[in-house]
Amino acid sequence: MLALERVARGIEPLTARLRPGHPIPEPEGERTVRVERVEHPAEGVAQLTLVPARPGETLPAWQPGQHVDVVLGGGVLRQYSLTGDPSDRSAYRIAVRRIPDGVGSGLVHGLREGDTIGLRGPRNAFPFTRAERYLFVAGGIGITPILPMVLSAHRAAVPARTVYTGRSRATMPFADLLPGEVSVRPDDECGPPDPAAIVEGLTPGTAVYVCGPSPLIEAVRARTPEGTPFFSERFAPAPVVDGEPFEVQLGEDGPVVPIPADESALEVMRRVRPATAYSCRQGFCGTCRLTLLSGEADHRDRPTGGSPRGEEFAPCVSRAAGGERLVLDV
Ligand code: FES
Repeated sequence: MLALERVARGIEPLTARLRPGHPIPEPEGERTVRVERVEHPAEGVAQLTLVPARPGETLPAWQPGQHVDVVLGGGVLRQYSLTGDPSDRSAYRIAVRRIPDGVGSGLVHGLREGDTIGLRGPRNAFPFTRAERYLFVAGGIGITPILPMVLSAHRAAVPARTVYTGRSRATMPFADLLPGEVSVRPDDECGPPDPAAIVEGLTPGTAVYVCGPSPLIEAVRARTPEGTPFFSERFAPAPVVDGEPFEVQLGEDGPVVPIPADESALEVMRRVRPATAYSCRQGFCGTCRLTLLSGEADHRDRPTGGSPRGEEFAPCVSRAAGGERLVLDV
């Protein structure tokens, strides 16, 4: 079973600070885009239409499921799914739900038409693959990467069923844009999602795509027949699996911090040093990586370039064997 997890775009999970001298690995340079339009397709959701800041430029082609890194004020970095029409090279669209006290979503919601922001990518952490048919499941703002997938499948005349859940219709953007066989199920009308009903009738050859809160993903995954291609994108880091307690030392002469079996090194380090840089918390953006001075790491991140893997450690997901001490250059 294939599961690719990343932080959901449009959700406010994190506080990212770019570390001086420690750039995020990025194969494509940063471009400046202008906010052409700000819309509110649902309660608490801002949709931005982004166009090249320089007239006549086009934006790189993208595929459903891809995201962009958005560089906001103060160097705050967030990843958001592209949610517009992939065939439109003149503009990108992202949609972001406002989260109380959320730094990134607050900055996005503060943008006005005519403002400029930095953009990197697109990058792909939620690949849309060919299949005979699809089951798409979206929870709330998780609709953002699912919408272009549904549109593409519909355009290619590939059979697809879409289940869209959320708190209430008013909070669920884009429900009216979904073509084909669609079940819109707001909790306040239909009750909580029933994962068994969602996967009922799955036939061989169906690929399942889920984007939403972790409990929805795990419930659908648990009821999906073994061997079914399963792709998911979550709002928050995956729980630690098969973890053992180890230690990190913050600098050659720095404090030694014990990391419990069920917590990431990043979460513990943030308690000790609240300014610790991070962004995706799922091992794909590279923001949290630190030079590994000594110790044997269990690397669980996805390489994205930069230094050789063995020389860096991504504390958001990577770990070490029980009792090991990793010395990090902080
Ligand atoms: S926060 Fe993105 S790789 Fe660790």
